[in-house]
Amino acid sequence: MLSRTVQKNLFKRSNAVSSVRFISAFSEIPLAPPDKILGIAEAYNKDSNPQKINLGVGAYRDDTGRPIIFPSVKKAEEKLLTAETEKEYTGIIGNKNFQNIIKNFIFNNSGKDVNGEKLIKDGRIVSSQTISGTGSLRVIADFLNRFYNTKHILVPKPTWANHIAVFNDAGITSEFYSYYDTSVNGLDFENLKSSLQNAQEGSIVLLHACCHNPTGMDLTAEQWDEVLAIVQEKSFYPLVDMAYQGFASGDPYKDISLIRRLNELVVAGNIPSYALCQSFAKNMGLYGERTGSISIVTESQEASTRIESQLKKLIRPMYSSPPIHGSKIVEQIFADESLFQSWLSDLNSVVGRLNSIRTKFYEKLDKTNYNWEHLNKQRGMFVYTGLTKEQVIELREKYSVYATEDGRFSISGINESNVDYLADAVNKVIAK
Ligand code: LMR
Repeated sequence: MLSRTVQKNLFKRSNAVSSVRFISAFSEIPLAPPDKILGIAEAYNKDSNPQKINLGVGAYRDDTGRPIIFPSVKKAEEKLLTAETEKEYTGIIGNKNFQNIIKNFIFNNSGKDVNGEKLIKDGRIVSSQTISGTGSLRVIADFLNRFYNTKHILVPKPTWANHIAVFNDAGITSEFYSYYDTSVNGLDFENLKSSLQNAQEGSIVLLHACCHNPTGMDLTAEQWDEVLAIVQEKSFYPLVDMAYQGFASGDPYKDISLIRRLNELVVAGNIPSYALCQSFAKNMGLYGERTGSISIVTESQEASTRIESQLKKLIRPMYSSPPIHGSKIVEQIFADESLFQSWLSDLNSVVGRLNSIRTKFYEKLDKTNYNWEHLNKQRGMFVYTGLTKEQVIELREKYSVYATEDGRFSISGINESNVDYLADAVNKVIAK
């Protein structure tokens, strides 16, 4: 409903053809708050303290604090530069080669998942290139809103700060299921199960494949089995978000056990369909190239044909077709075994640095008044410190340490030169 003043202004404008007087159509728009994650960088950039530290966004930095281009990606780009002959549009859902890479790499574990292989052979996977992970989430959210009967999603508490906004903007209401217990800094598994058991039947359920964002705390294989039993019992629709494939173990193939288990359940006829959102933003460092995908595992080849046609119908008026530079890099890397192996080793060394700086940070923290053990159990780009909002604000205001207010630290911002300063600041804030 437009407010009275806005209605009046619009009316005045349409009747003011002769007496031209500019009246802003947007005079009543309230100021929006900065983004909870991306807004951190804006504040950090304005800070003149030379010791400032940015622990906000989940984007990799090397030990000198700089972003990197993976050497394998650089080589792929060099090859592209000489081989590329056109910049034509790709298809609405990307090209077949990219889609097949996604299917074979993730669902078939490059030839090692018999169930995934069967799903591909039976034409039961529809893949579409998307505008990175957020784009894939938005596409699947719009798709589910259009075609799935329950417009309700269960998300872990806590979850990535942008998840709820993506779903809500697409008309899907969200509700938390228990995930993490901040009083003990650990997984809240019993409540996780009971909250799912008590949730509305047939809901969509969001599952983080690995390196849960923001907590970095993942389920074990046995715990996933228990959760998937509830998913079946309650006829939930699983929507898997996998933004950090490879960051849990250093090996992208080892981090897809949830996908393998879901494939098995689908082939056995216990789960009819599920969807996966993924991106190469983190594990190939293709952040700004916006390269990701959505895949829907369907009930039949015939369903796949219909679903694919609807994905095209949905994407075309939204952004027409995805960007091509990032997807071409991915294609180059997967087309060349030696480049592919270099990529695996680049990824492994990125994860190695994160793990060693995590350990170093842990070692420097004062354990007399605070149990920091949870840091050693968390995986991926983040530590979920357990610091309160007030403590995070104090870190920012007194020490120029910038992190999200939920106490998440992106550890890629920590390095040999600032780890002492950071640990010291955290110790002082905790000791107060
Ligand atoms: C993050 O959680 O920091 C990343 O996924 C980046 C983003 O877009 O929020």
